[in-house]
Amino acid sequence: MPYTRITMTHFLLEEQRRLGGSGSFTALMTDIIFACKMIAHEVNRGALAGNHGLAGSENVQGEDQKKLDVLANDIFMHMNALGGNYAGMASEELEDIHPVTGAADGKYLLLFDPLDGSSNIDVNISVGSIFSILKLPPGASTIAEAAFLRKGVEQVAAGYALYGSSTMMVLTTGNGVNGFTLDNNVGMFMLTHPNMTIPADTNEFAINASRARFWEAPVKRYIDECQAGKEGPLGKDFNMRWVASMVAEVHRILVRGGIFMYPADSENIKKGGKLRLMYEANPMAFIIEQAGGAATTGRGRIMEVQPANLHQRVPVILGSRNEVERVSAYHAEHD
Ligand code: AHG
Ligand code: MN
Ligand code: MN
Ligand code: MN
Repeated sequence: MPYTRITMTHFLLEEQRRLGGSGSFTALMTDIIFACKMIAHEVNRGALAGNHGLAGSENVQGEDQKKLDVLANDIFMHMNALGGNYAGMASEELEDIHPVTGAADGKYLLLFDPLDGSSNIDVNISVGSIFSILKLPPGASTIAEAAFLRKGVEQVAAGYALYGSSTMMVLTTGNGVNGFTLDNNVGMFMLTHPNMTIPADTNEFAINASRARFWEAPVKRYIDECQAGKEGPLGKDFNMRWVASMVAEVHRILVRGGIFMYPADSENIKKGGKLRLMYEANPMAFIIEQAGGAATTGRGRIMEVQPANLHQRVPVILGSRNEVERVSAYHAEHD
């Protein structure tokens, strides 16, 4: 019976009633939902709309921007400025913070990766959008970068949209993790994955193995042990996946468990790692922890890293708790 499902809007209203909220968070989520539906539409139209290929520009990360990186960023900024819920925004694709002008009294800050998995756009493999929401610090009247530089533990909500074989939205507000699937015919996200939880054990790992020659000893040890299978110290055979879209990897882990690693290595350590703390690591760490998993740099909880700048990068090891703890223990033994 498909008509017993509840929409994401009704789910948010129910949460608002339960917590006695003012409705501004529900309004803000409505704007994010619009933005993600529009990006899904553009991802879907793909080459038909001329959306594939390079934009011809470079972002602050030193990456060649794809047309969809730029388009998704424009959509996210435009749709989320309209509601007047934000005091400011920060994006992977923007060098500086973007104060939202004209907002009545925006109480929130929005940080986002508008299009995650850019290298997969032109080959029609799943991509996504990631967002993190902070409250404007009390008394902050002018928006400066410092207002955004807060630990992941201060996030009030985080989520992602996955533009895959279905379009999905996964959200946490610090009270578990829920997943919604877009019904394209009615244009609504429906609750299809209530209370997502990650099994503590897994035999599936995800890492870009082309970087093996740069890995630190604890990472090399762990992957060697996974590959040794039943005969090795872990005593079980492992499977491997690497989509190269963090959203898709995290989603797989939420659905069936796993461990995902983009560790610091001898080559990326100059930049602090590969993935961005504010737009990728923190929101995903919040979701993973809320689903019962763990998220670490290998040497500490991701959400406790004090950011020093907006585009800071960080090593990321996340997923099924027991395997993440094993990799952390290998780092501790090694250091
Ligand atoms: P983005 O497309 O937002 O720049 O992020 C890409 C990230 C992440 O999604 C993925 O896990 C990783 O980069 C892929 O890196 P490799 O190209 O090294 O596999
Ligand atoms: Mn990028
Ligand atoms: Mn990304
Ligand atoms: Mn991106």
